[in-house]
Parts: sequence; C-alpha cells; structure tokens
Amino acid sequence: MMDDRRLLDLAIEARKRAYCPYSRFPVGAALLCADGTVVTGVNVENAVNGLSLCAERVAVFKAISEGKRSFVKIAVVCGGDHCRPCGACRQVLYEHAPELEILMGNPNGEFQRTTIRDLLPDPFSL
Ligand code: THU
Repeated sequence: MMDDRRLLDLAIEARKRAYCPYSRFPVGAALLCADGTVVTGVNVENAVNGLSLCAERVAVFKAISEGKRSFVKIAVVCGGDHCRPCGACRQVLYEHAPELEILMGNPNGEFQRTTIRDLLPDPFSL
C-alpha cells in the first residue's frame, strides 16, 4: 500500500536526479498507477529554449510508454513553497487521469493536497 508520505519521499528522491543546469530549479514527481506501481519523473532541460520538459510530464510519458493507462495520484516536489504544476502539465494530467489526486510538496516533506479537477476547472477534451 502506497501512502502519501512514501509517494512524497519518492518524489523527493527523484528530484535529486533532475537535469536543470539552466534554471537550477530541480523538480521531482512520483506518479502512482492504478496497478500499485510508481513511475517517477524529473524536469529535463535543454540548451535550446522551449525544449525542456517538466517533471510531471516526464513521469506521465514514461508511464504511458510502459503500458500504464490508469493513474491515482501524483506527488510533485520543488524547492521553496509547495510546487504547483504548470498549465501545460495540468492539461496532460487531465487527459490521462481526470480524477487524479495531487500532492504538492517541498523537500522538507510538507505538502498540500488538491485534485486535477480543482487545478483545471474547465478543461479541453475532444
Ligand atoms: N517545472 C517542473 O518540472 N514542474 C513544475 O511543476 C514547475 C516547473 C520545471 C520547469 C523548468 O525546468 C523549471 O522547473 C523552472 O524553470
């Protein structure tokens, strides 16, 4: 059973693997799949502006590419205040998990709880 504390710890650990030489702002994510497995992600930046990917999208794309299709919860951790997923990530998270729970944390383990419904109240879908 994956509790919130453990999921947050996995995001904190993943954050150490962020590739962010430009922003120096590491972010870690841990995505809990419906099958009980966890897929992590980090932000991966690039010297070409605009090619960087956020930790949340890396986690979702890794999971999708591994055959996972159902997601329960994601923990996201960055420095300073609690991490808020960007607008692009909200749209991607909604596509694959419209009922997703979101834990927005910091490296000290403090976190706030929300849902993709609350973060993206009027989403686009086909
Ligand atoms: N970033 C994320 O990975 N997730 C978020 O929720 C917020 C922002 C990344 C994007 C970029 O690599 C860095 O944090 C901020 O410039």
